[in-house]
Amino acid sequence: MNKEFKRYTVTAALPYSNGPVHIGHLAGVYVPADIYVRYLRLKKRDVLYICGSDEHGVPITLRAKKEGKTPQQVVDFYHEMNKKAFADFGISFDIYSRTSNKIHHETASDFFKKLYDKNDFLELETEQLYDEEANQFLADRYVTGTCPHCGYERAYGDQCEKCGTSLSATELINPVSSFSGSVPVVKATKHWYLPLDKYSDFIEDWIVKGHQDDWRQNVVQQVHSWIKMGLRPRAVTRDLDWGVPVPVENAEGKVLYVWFDAPIGYISATKELTDDWEKYWKDDETKLVHFIGKDNIVFHAIIFPIMLKAEGSYILPDNVPANSFLNLEDDKISTSRNWAVWLHEYLEDFEGKQDVLRYVLTVNAPESKDNNFTWKDFQTRNNKELVADFGNFVNRALVLTNKYFEGVVQVPGNYTDYDKEVLAEITKIRDKVADSLEQYRIREAQYFAMDLARLGNKYFAETEPWTIAKTDLERVKTILYIACQIVANLAVLMEPFLPFSAKKLRNSLSITEELTWDMIGRSDILKSGTKLQKTDLLFEQITDEMIEKQIERLEKIKKENELAEAKLTPLKTVATFDDFTKLDIRIGTVLKAEKVAKTKKLLKLTVDTGIDKRTIVAGIAEHYTPEQITGKKVTLLANLEPRKIKGILSEGMLLMAENSVGELSILTPNKDFENGSTVG
Ligand code: MF3
Ligand code: ZN
Repeated sequence: MNKEFKRYTVTAALPYSNGPVHIGHLAGVYVPADIYVRYLRLKKRDVLYICGSDEHGVPITLRAKKEGKTPQQVVDFYHEMNKKAFADFGISFDIYSRTSNKIHHETASDFFKKLYDKNDFLELETEQLYDEEANQFLADRYVTGTCPHCGYERAYGDQCEKCGTSLSATELINPVSSFSGSVPVVKATKHWYLPLDKYSDFIEDWIVKGHQDDWRQNVVQQVHSWIKMGLRPRAVTRDLDWGVPVPVENAEGKVLYVWFDAPIGYISATKELTDDWEKYWKDDETKLVHFIGKDNIVFHAIIFPIMLKAEGSYILPDNVPANSFLNLEDDKISTSRNWAVWLHEYLEDFEGKQDVLRYVLTVNAPESKDNNFTWKDFQTRNNKELVADFGNFVNRALVLTNKYFEGVVQVPGNYTDYDKEVLAEITKIRDKVADSLEQYRIREAQYFAMDLARLGNKYFAETEPWTIAKTDLERVKTILYIACQIVANLAVLMEPFLPFSAKKLRNSLSITEELTWDMIGRSDILKSGTKLQKTDLLFEQITDEMIEKQIERLEKIKKENELAEAKLTPLKTVATFDDFTKLDIRIGTVLKAEKVAKTKKLLKLTVDTGIDKRTIVAGIAEHYTPEQITGKKVTLLANLEPRKIKGILSEGMLLMAENSVGELSILTPNKDFENGSTVG
């Protein structure tokens, strides 16, 4: 477990390029992996950080069809967009490749071919659904129908999202092809299967027994439960025309299953990056680490390792740190429901504040359980922790050095015991941070790193240089020297977490040479005589206004979703023209309105109908206040038989529109019509 490694291959799950990336992506995979990698680089370790777009799979073809584009056009667009978004947030991939490029097709093909030639696959013929109009076999996601277990009418061919049962498409009742809308037929087709069952013992020994203490519990448990359920052969090819063609004879119209080719994408990306790629994949002294989200566990801890093992020349991952999910304002992040904070949109509203988001997402990293992002928490963390703890300390160190010593770091005098204690503390913090990072406890690591800023604040509170300056400027030289050393140490320690701010700090301190992790704690990391640069504040307050704008945006989306998801009232049975002409509908004006005592819903209205002034009791008090409705033009049913409501005689009825979520609206003519005008 404590083996020394010569080099590191760190991968981050390849995001599908069929939509933009959001905070859930950052928090779950890309920021934690980035922090880990930046730390390794500061340690001067040999490391590659590998990522790229996952460009195959059924959802991409569906999206293309919906948008009237080719799959290639769809992936081209999102590949560029996501590549930029990651770069904007300082995610420091060594390469951001893509699985639609040539080198990947070749690598994935060769991989399949090698297993094929060794007779590792089972070749099986099964019955699958076929769309005779579109002339193609239907992948599971292309078929919807009624779930045989719960009766849900829009179950997919691989799973019912209502009851969660996994299905096979041929089990669906009344199946329909999403391609053409036609009823599919059953037809035989041949595919290649990877016999996962043969590797069950290998996986169990390696992970469940071998890594139960050093891998995350969620990963070990999930693997364990898969093994208990029994691993089964799994098809690694599909009948589809988008993907890596199956490189053997008699396989026309077949491509590699996306989950077979995508993880090989890590290898092809490394090949694209360096001719020396083999040592990052085939040498025992390389530590391979896969950062992923929890929905990817089975692929990275079971299927891909089995592929690597079967191939025979590759190393296996040393760890698979999988994160749970991040919710947004207590609701599951969802691309289709637009319930997300998109990275490109964040930057429009919070320009230059990438580190704030990195920080807050790391504080709330869903490492052991799902976690929640709220805009209020975002604001508080920024204002209280980044501005008040970190920024404020740095600012005081720099401002005071400017004030007393024209911005020049002085030569320190003798250290007090307390000075020595504080300096010694820096090394301790460094080691705690490193220890947490080595164990992928990224959130804890950031917390420990912030201890250094807190240490700086405490040092100022204890030494009060602004008071001492009045009597003993010599002593202030030492105090500010130490404070500036802490700032310089922060510039290194924080680099993995807050790279943009760390860079600003280095600029403020005129540090041009390379700083490494092991320099942290060395008290001369910043030389006496250094002239500080004038710079902007490290962090700024985030105002209530900025936060309200975000919350309003989400509320609007929530409303839209509710409307879209709500069911409309079904149509009533036919009414004759005669039925309709019996109704006398008029325009009137509300002259007066008051709440009916002891009721929640009722307003007593006085309405001018043009013909008379009369009383109408209306159940609208939860939607209109008396003030809001007084003076409004309304539409009313004027010849409704009068009836008593709560002891008040109501002579007519207001016509109201009601939407699918139960909101009411009065009907006002869109021209200024006089009272008594008829409606029909
Ligand atoms: N595209 C997949 C997802 O977003 C992840 C693929 S990871 C890889 O869930 F290993 F297959 F590349
Ligand atoms: Zn069901």
